[in-house]
Formats: sequence, C-alpha cells, structure tokens
Amino acid sequence: EDGGPQPEKHCGHGRGGMGEDVKRKEDQRFITGRGNYVDDIKKPGMLHCEIVRSPHAHARIENIDKSRALDVDGVVAVLTADDLREYDLATMPTLMADTQDVLVNDKVKFQSQEVAAVIATDRYTAKDGAQKVVVDYDVLEPVVDAEKSLEDDAPLIRDDIEDKTDNHCLDWETGDEEATAEAFEEADVTVKEDMLYQRLHPAPIETCGAVGDYDPGKDKLTVHMTSQAPHIHRTLFAQVSGIPEHKIRIVSPDVGGGFGNKVPIYPGYVVAAAASYVLEQPVKWVEERSENIQSTGFARDYDMTGELAATDDGEILAVRTDVLADHGAYNAVAQPSKFPAGFFNIFTGSYDIDTAYGSLTAAYTNTAPGGVAYRCSFRVTEAVYLIERMVKVLADELGMDPAEIRRKNFIQPEQFPYESTTGWNYDSGDYEAALDKALEMADYDHYREEQQRRIDEDANKLLGIGISSFTEIVGAGPGKTCDIAGVEMFDSAEIRVHPTGNATVRVGVQTQGQGHETTFAQIVAEELGMNVEDITVEHGDTDTDTDPYGLGTYGSRSTPVAGAAAAVASRKVREKAKAIAANELEAAEEDITWDRESGEFHVAGAPDRSITITEIAAGAYMNKPAGEDPGLEAVNYYDPPEMTYPFGSYIVIVEVDRETGEVEFEKFVAVDDCGNRINPMIIEGQIHGGLAQGIGTAMLEHVTFDDNGNVTGGDFMNYLLPTSMEIPNFETGHTVTPSPHHPIGAKGVGESPTVGSPPAIVNAVVDAMSHAGITHVEMPMTPDTVWEKLDEAGLAA
Ligand code: CDP
Repeated sequence: EDGGPQPEKHCGHGRGGMGEDVKRKEDQRFITGRGNYVDDIKKPGMLHCEIVRSPHAHARIENIDKSRALDVDGVVAVLTADDLREYDLATMPTLMADTQDVLVNDKVKFQSQEVAAVIATDRYTAKDGAQKVVVDYDVLEPVVDAEKSLEDDAPLIRDDIEDKTDNHCLDWETGDEEATAEAFEEADVTVKEDMLYQRLHPAPIETCGAVGDYDPGKDKLTVHMTSQAPHIHRTLFAQVSGIPEHKIRIVSPDVGGGFGNKVPIYPGYVVAAAASYVLEQPVKWVEERSENIQSTGFARDYDMTGELAATDDGEILAVRTDVLADHGAYNAVAQPSKFPAGFFNIFTGSYDIDTAYGSLTAAYTNTAPGGVAYRCSFRVTEAVYLIERMVKVLADELGMDPAEIRRKNFIQPEQFPYESTTGWNYDSGDYEAALDKALEMADYDHYREEQQRRIDEDANKLLGIGISSFTEIVGAGPGKTCDIAGVEMFDSAEIRVHPTGNATVRVGVQTQGQGHETTFAQIVAEELGMNVEDITVEHGDTDTDTDPYGLGTYGSRSTPVAGAAAAVASRKVREKAKAIAANELEAAEEDITWDRESGEFHVAGAPDRSITITEIAAGAYMNKPAGEDPGLEAVNYYDPPEMTYPFGSYIVIVEVDRETGEVEFEKFVAVDDCGNRINPMIIEGQIHGGLAQGIGTAMLEHVTFDDNGNVTGGDFMNYLLPTSMEIPNFETGHTVTPSPHHPIGAKGVGESPTVGSPPAIVNAVVDAMSHAGITHVEMPMTPDTVWEKLDEAGLAA
C-alpha cells in the first residue's frame, strides 16, 4: 500500500505533506534575528583565541618568541606546536589520511597557515597579543602552480613525508584506455579542448568557528562548532585526542551556510578545544573572512583536457580526459575515502557512451589544502563541466545544433536503470523531456533566428545560446562503497509521537539553511497523516549527545539518505499505530487499512469508522493494547541501496558586447528534475541560490596567487561574489521522474543548479563567438577575458 514511491498526484492533502509549499518554519527565528550561531554563544569566563598566521607560503620556522605577547594585559596563554605536542595534538589526520599540522611544527607550507594561537580575555586583546608574537622565518622558494610543482627542480614541499622526493600527490584512472584509444583512432571526428575549473572557495556567509568548553567536574568536553558533520567530527576528535567518545559532545548550532566548507576539521577547532582542556575555561575561536578564504577548504582547481570521438552525424563514440589536480599543501579533499578523485568518473554525463577513459594526477603546492565538495557531490561539478563543454565543442565542429546532438546521444528512458561504462548505476531519467521543456520555455528557435540576424547585421551586441543537460549523482552511500574515515555513509531519523498527538523528529544530518526543519516535518506529516504544524524537527542545535548518528549534510545527501530514513521511521511508527488504532476502533488489526489521502486508519468495509494518529497517540501511553509495549516512537538507520540521479536542462541566453567584452543575461531557463518534490517553494529557493553561485563561478570567482605564494584573491575585495546586481531573473520549470529505490521517490536537488549552470553559461558566451571559430573561454569570464577572445576572433569592435 505504501512501500513504493509516491507519485506526485498524492501531493497536497492540505496537511503540509509532500508537494505542498509550506512556509519555512525556521524563518521565524532567522528573520527576527533569533538564530543561534557559534559566534552568538557566550559562556561565563569564556576566553578568546586568535591565530597567528604565516605571511609566507613556504618557510622554515627558526624561532617563536612568545614573551612580548604574554606581556600584553589580558593575554592568558600563547600556544605553539611544542605545547600541543605534549598532548599529541601537534598534528591531525585529514579526511584523506594525510597528516596536517595543527600549528606549524617545522615548516610553513602555505600562506596564512596556523603558526601559533593566542588566548586572551577578549577578542581584541587576543588580536593585540597575536601581533606581538615574534616568529623568525627562513623563507624558502614557494611553488603555487601544480604544473610547475611537478617539474624536476621544483622545491620539495612535503619533506615531512618519509622518502618523499617530489611534489607528486596521487595518480588515479578509470575506464578502458586501450578501447578508448582504438575508438579515437577509428572515429570520423575527434575534438579536444583544455579547460581549467579554477580554484573557488565556498565562501559561506558565516565563517568557521568553535567554542571549546571542557568541564573538569564532569570530565566532559563540549565543542560548539560550525560543522556540517558533527557526529563524524566527534568520532575523529575521540580518535585523535584519546578522550573517550562519550566524554565529547559536539553541538552544531545554526550554521550560516556550509557549501562543503564546513566538512573538514580545521586547526582552529582543535586549538579551541585543546586550549579549553588545558586552561579549563571555555575558549572561542571565530575566523575573519580573509582567514576563511585563505586557509580553509577550497574547491575545484582541476586543469582538464577533454576529448570526444564521434561519427560524422554526431553519435558520440568515446570520451577521454586527463586532469592535473592541485591539492594544496596536504591531501585534505573531503570525499568518500575510496574515491581519490571523488565521483569525477561520472564524466560520461547524460549520454549513452560505452567507451571512456580518464586519468588524473594530483600535486602538492604551497597553497591551502582543500578540494572540498562545494555545493557538489565530490567532483561531479568538474565532470559535468567537462562533458557539457565538450558536447558544445563537438556540435560546433560538426556544425550541428547543440540541442540536436544532445538528443541524439541521451540515455533513453527505457534504458534505466542504466549502468555507465565507468560503473555508475543511474536510477531513472527522462533527459529529452527536460530539454524539450527548457527549449520551449526559452523560445529557442526565435533566439537562434535573432542570433543569426545580429551576425548578418554586424550588430554591436552578439547573442549566444548555451545549453547544459546535466546529470547529477547525490545521496552517498551506500555504505559498502562510501565511507568517511572508515564510517559507512548511512543516515538516520528518530520520531517520537507524544501523548497529546504531536511529534518530535531528530535526524542525523545538519541543516545549514536548506529548510530541513520544514521539509523533514513534511515527510513525516505525509507518512503519518499529521499536520505539519504538529511536528518539530529538532535542528539548529544538532547535538551528538541526543541526535541519532549520521554522516552529515553535503553532496545533497539529506533528502536521499536522511529523508529516506525519516520516511521509513514514520512507516514503523504507523505500523505500531495500526495496532493501537485497531484497539481504539474495536476491530481486528488485519481489518485496519491506512488511507493516505485522509491520513486516517479505517476499518475495512466501514468507512465511517476511522481515526488519525493524533487521535490515537494517547492510546499508546494510556490505553495500550495487550501485548504491546507503551510509547509511539521509532528510529531508522538507512543505508541507501544506490545513489539518486537528479538531472535537468538549463538554457542561458547572453548578449556579448563587442566593445567592452561585457556579458549580460538575456534569459536564464532552468528545468530541474529531482524526482518527487517535497516542497516546491523550497526547491525553487535552492535553485535560485545555486544558479547565483553558478554565475559567480562562471563570471567572477577565482582564488588567485602571485609567484611569491601570496593569495591575491583571498578577500571579498578580490574574490568577487555575485550580488543581486549580477543576478538575472530566473525562469524555472520542472519534470518529475521519481527515484525507483527511494522510499518517497525523491532525489536531492540542492546542488544541481551550481553543478549544471556554469557549462550552460560558458557555452552561451562561446556560442556568441563560435561562428568566428572560438571554441572555449576560461572561467571566470571577466570582461577582459571575453574581450581578448573577441579580439582573437576579429570580432572586437
Ligand atoms: O543535503 P541538502 O539538504 O543540502 O540537499 P537536498 O537533499 O537536495 O535538499 C535541499 C532542500 O530541498 C531540502 O530542504 C530538501 O528537503 C528540499 N527538497 C525537496 O523539497 N524535494 C526534493 N525532491 C529534494 C529536496
């Protein structure tokens, strides 16, 4: 009756269940200034920590003189690696089992690396103290470019690794090299393009921070921290510090945006916790903006070569790619441990391509470590960019319409479940339906005519039309293939229905603004026939002491994994409620049926005899049937059988000014399919936000360095986030292709727009110039970059 996915027609019973535009419950506290973020936490006797950071990218530390800092009134302690070594905390493991200095042990490996920590009675005094720590550096030659770092004469960065003689980090490959080479030899047409997915930073509005609070009375360490994954962070804290796990409590309060930046563990967290342990007083550490951009997990930095082999009429026969990845000074990418290149091998995209080969080399450089999944499922963004850009390059080479070539190569609906040549098991899809809808919404044919008219009339503003028909992969596990530091990637939900008929829900994931307090309540409302107002999802204070263990929120895994757990836990509650309903309705349990529309239990054959869960909750506590345990609650730990594969088609129409190289958005259409939809209004918000981030990626953002290793794109003056001025009107649409294996047929959606939009935008700008032979423009497509291409093509006015 309710095992499988719920088709969309079930939506809208008026109780705030699946498919209803329920207003976000959490917004009451956010828009009235009552959010509770790490920096809002104030504890009696709380001290403040400021980190002393290296101005050099590569330097050996010869001496650290704390004395002048300790003389500052209010400075309580100055910690260096020597102090942490006593507690075995001078280094920490990264999520990829590399070893990173908490405070520099010997040699600085990137600018802004953590050298010392000053603890004082208030933040300003801590800052004054930090300026008085005198560090003697022996400055070494830095290398900030991955290609140069692999040259023979490059300075060695990781001399802390035994027998290491070069800056090589790792190699990885996927697919069949030989078969791919053959396909390329035999193909009618081959195309090749180099493209850099530049270094980005997730740049959440709230930077990272922590309040460590060791209570010697209870012998318990509580850490409030900006964490996207508090449970796994506690396990790692326990493993590294030796403090038993039940003596550590991590609380992730309201988090002001994560986007992957708050998945790794950073030195500041460890220092705040360690300092509170040593000083037996609470210690707060909160980063400034430039510290966040310059030292915490960056994203992307994949220098890719893409190649396609095809027939004359546009059938894609093979894809090949080679990547040079910059991992920074440590291997600290945040992705499932068996996937050194994340899910990059999904680079065959939405297309039925049976031959593929990919190889990757990663290098250490004197830059901050990272490679986090910035609103992305572990390198899917890079893979989607590669294939969607290459399809456009091929279309231009063949003189084919880019919509037509996509249609010709799409995996067809009847091919699902579809196993890709690189081993992914796509659950469901109807790519052509999404593309057709987008083409219609964009008025595609009209704009193609308009584009030609402008070329013919030698107009000052060229028109470009870009398409991206992306497939995402979200919802890691399953546990057998995906783990973080050995812990399998499942997730969890716990539901308790109280005697007066309302419910509290706890989940293993952590919200960072995505609206979980509303959407998880909607899942439970749908499954239990309750009103959404009667359900509280305890969020904004994810607490490892009380919440069920989960692997955290990133890679759009909340809905596919914890959302499934919430549905399954609800069904367990409903099963128990059935026995109580039978008791209350004085009928046999086998005669009780559940009606999703009304949200009631009925006695078969007697439609007037019905009862809701709210009405029978009391019975679980006050009038339980013989042989049943009291209470009405359930917990589910959900290990997904597969990931889910949301998809969409985006069409971007731009005007390119031939005089200035400026790009203006004329139209921006986004058609998404995330299976069954929980809250269309929240999805719309997710799409808008993600598209804005995609525009930032394509047009503005880049963490840059000079040759001395200085970060030249490390603050908001130089790392340009899009504002409302740069964001056009988005026209959104959707199709619904449920996931066949997800309990409510839902797929994730949060990152689709960030993943899918950059190639559509670049394809549009290239399309404005492709009649003059331009095949690629590097991101960010600033006016000067675009103007150079116009000039190269003889189009500059
Ligand atoms: O893991 P994260 O929450 O970042 O991503 P997600 O699972 O894609 O969900 C983002 C937001 O969209 C959440 O509030 C989801 O519940 C909501 N959503 C939805 O309403 N329907 C879907 N099919 C997928 C997500």
